[in-house]
Formats: sequence, structure tokens, C-alpha cells
Amino acid sequence: MPRIRPAVADMENQRIGEVAKLAIGDPDIIPLWFGESDLPTPDFVSEAAIAAIRAGHTKYVNKRGIPEIRTAIQKYMAAQYDIELEFERVTAMGSGMTAIMIAVECLVDNGDNVVMISPIWPNIFYAVETMGGECRHVRLDDTETGWKLDLDKLFAACDERTKALFIASPSNPTGWLMEREEQEAVLDFCRERGIWIIADEVYHRIVYDRPVAPSFLQISEPDDPIFAVHSFSKSWAMTGWRCGWLIHPAELGDRMGDLSGINNTGSTSFVQHAGVAAIEQGEDFVRAMVERCRRGRELVFQRLSGMDRVRISRPQAAFYAFFGIDGIEDDLAFAQALIRDARVGLAPGSAFGPDNAGYLRLCFANSEQNLSTALDRLEAAL
Ligand SMILES: Cc1ncc(COP(=O)(O)O)c(C=O)c1O
Repeated sequence: MPRIRPAVADMENQRIGEVAKLAIGDPDIIPLWFGESDLPTPDFVSEAAIAAIRAGHTKYVNKRGIPEIRTAIQKYMAAQYDIELEFERVTAMGSGMTAIMIAVECLVDNGDNVVMISPIWPNIFYAVETMGGECRHVRLDDTETGWKLDLDKLFAACDERTKALFIASPSNPTGWLMEREEQEAVLDFCRERGIWIIADEVYHRIVYDRPVAPSFLQISEPDDPIFAVHSFSKSWAMTGWRCGWLIHPAELGDRMGDLSGINNTGSTSFVQHAGVAAIEQGEDFVRAMVERCRRGRELVFQRLSGMDRVRISRPQAAFYAFFGIDGIEDDLAFAQALIRDARVGLAPGSAFGPDNAGYLRLCFANSEQNLSTALDRLEAAL
């Protein structure tokens, strides 16, 4: 077979998948390995999709999204952040991941680098590497009072080939959140150095000490070098629907349509109608989902911090516990053994970038019953 590009040929098998493939769909397993709620998508969202299919919304639509969803997003962002976004800055995307890929496609050439705050969801560094870019991981410090960013380390990692800082806040897997003053310092730095910010804000609603996480959009000007990535997946329990949005400078609007066109011809037409319903009618659902996550977070934090060998701080945001276990070097083998011996599915820490061996990630957007049983099983296994 003729060779395919090394950046693709040499990709590592995804480590979360290496665990999940052992038991996906097995009813005896409690699966806490992926980043999604166990709640079904709310009925009113599904009904809106069914109605849209019946009304014939099953054809190609504008690659930047139907006007209804772009307007709904504009209003939603105004309500969440108290900001006015020009319509031209809003593009609906086939998912948050598609939005990330398109931002990376816009910025990264062979030999460029992207500096990213780590531990980080692996698809992000795979996207950069697939484009021929280098990933520079700046790891948060794991302290007893939570994950902390050293801004000096972040800035020192940048050089003349740095095209973007990738900042997922709230973060998957750590639950770390970037505060307003840190965002201001980062924005000043990026303006001065001509570096883009890819602000991954897909967990903006999954916060426990405020209504919404701070957004770079609240402190920036319309033509600042910022891509803000959003998604329907997490807040509205719509992970399988594949719909998200990207906020970008207005002058990139046509390019967003072009890139959306060659990635997936834009988001699925009837799913966009469901997205409008999610935004317009979903506030009660989002609030209840976050309250449920809050209970999950407390339960998981209390139980894990009481276990021998486990190191954990209370997750600040998002719906994950990312914890270290003393004495475990091969976290992938350990997560695979947990499947066989304890019937619990967790993600291995080493999936999330360098220096995370010995960590595991557990998604607590799950019923208290499932979480308690999973933790009983983990404790017995430890
Ligand atoms: C940090 C982060 N960004 C983006 C995404 C992508 O979300 P989706 O493609 O489901 O919209 C995820 C999903 O897990 C994520 O954790």
C-alpha cells in the first residue's frame, strides 16, 4: 500500500478507546469512561428534531447554519454573558470537535506549534498533530487545593512558531477553570505577540460556584484573534447529535462556511432545529443537570478522598474527577484490569497528555446509585 501521511500513519491508538473497546455496551459494566451524562436527551429536543424531519428539513442547508440557529445562539450568548455578538461572527458547526478542527485548520501549518494547557482532552492534540503541528503541553500544577496554572510557564512555552494557545476552560479532565484576571493577561499577551486563542468553552455551564464560566468573549473586541468553541453536547445531554458552534472574527465568515463545507457540509439540518429548541426551552433542564452533577461531584470527591493511595482535590467545574493513585505506573493496564476485575470503566490518565501516568478520570455526570456502586468496586479493587 502506498504510504499515507506520517502524521496520520503514526497516530497512537486512542487510550480511552483501548479501555472502552474491552466492554462497550456490556450491561455489567458501569461506564464512566466517556464525557457524557447518563441522562437521555430531553424529550422536547427530540420532539423538535422529529417535527423538523416531518416538515422536510432533511436537505442541504447553509453551511454556516440555518438563520434560526445562528440567531438563537446570538441571543443565548447575550443572555449568558451580557455581550452583543454580530450575526456574522456566529457559525453553527457539525460539533464542538468540528469547530476545533476548523480553527486548527485555519491556523496550523507544518512546523507550527500550539501551546496548550494540559492535562487536556486528547482529540485536541491529535487535531494539531494531524495538521503537522507540534503540541506544547504546559501542565497545570496538581496541588492539594486544586489545579493551578503558572502563567509564566505558559508564556515561556511560546515562540515565533506559536500559532495559538489552546485553552479549555472549564477543563476536561481536571475541572480547572481560568479566572477573569488570567484571561486578561493571556489576551494581552496574545494581542502583543500576534497569537490566536482557541477558547474551548464547551463546559461553560457545568460550574458550581457561579452561573457560567468566564468567557474570553466577555473581555475581547470583535476583531481580536479568538475562536470560541461551543457545543450542544454537554449542557443539553446531546453528545450523539453532533452540533456545536464557533464564534470567530466577522471577516472569517466566508472561510468558516468553506471549511465547514469540506469537513461535513455543515451541521445536520434537522439537528439544528433541535438545537434551537434546546437553547430556547432548555434552561430548566440545564439547571437540573448541573444540580445532579453537583451531587455526583460531592459524592465522588468525598469517597475518593477517603480512599488509601488516592490523591484528589475537589473538581472546580465540568463533570470529571481526575485523580492520582499512588503506586500505579501503568494507568492503561490498571484501567483495563478494572474492567475485567471490578466491572468499572474509567479513562486512563495517560490519555490526557504527558506526565499523567498514574492518574484516572471518572465522569460523575451519572446517577448517585451508579457512582456509589462504581466507587465500592474501585475501593475493593484498590
Ligand atoms: C474539552 C472538550 N472540547 C470539545 C469537546 C467536543 O464536544 P462535541 O464534539 O461533542 O461537541 C469535548 C468532548 O468531550 C471536550 O471534552
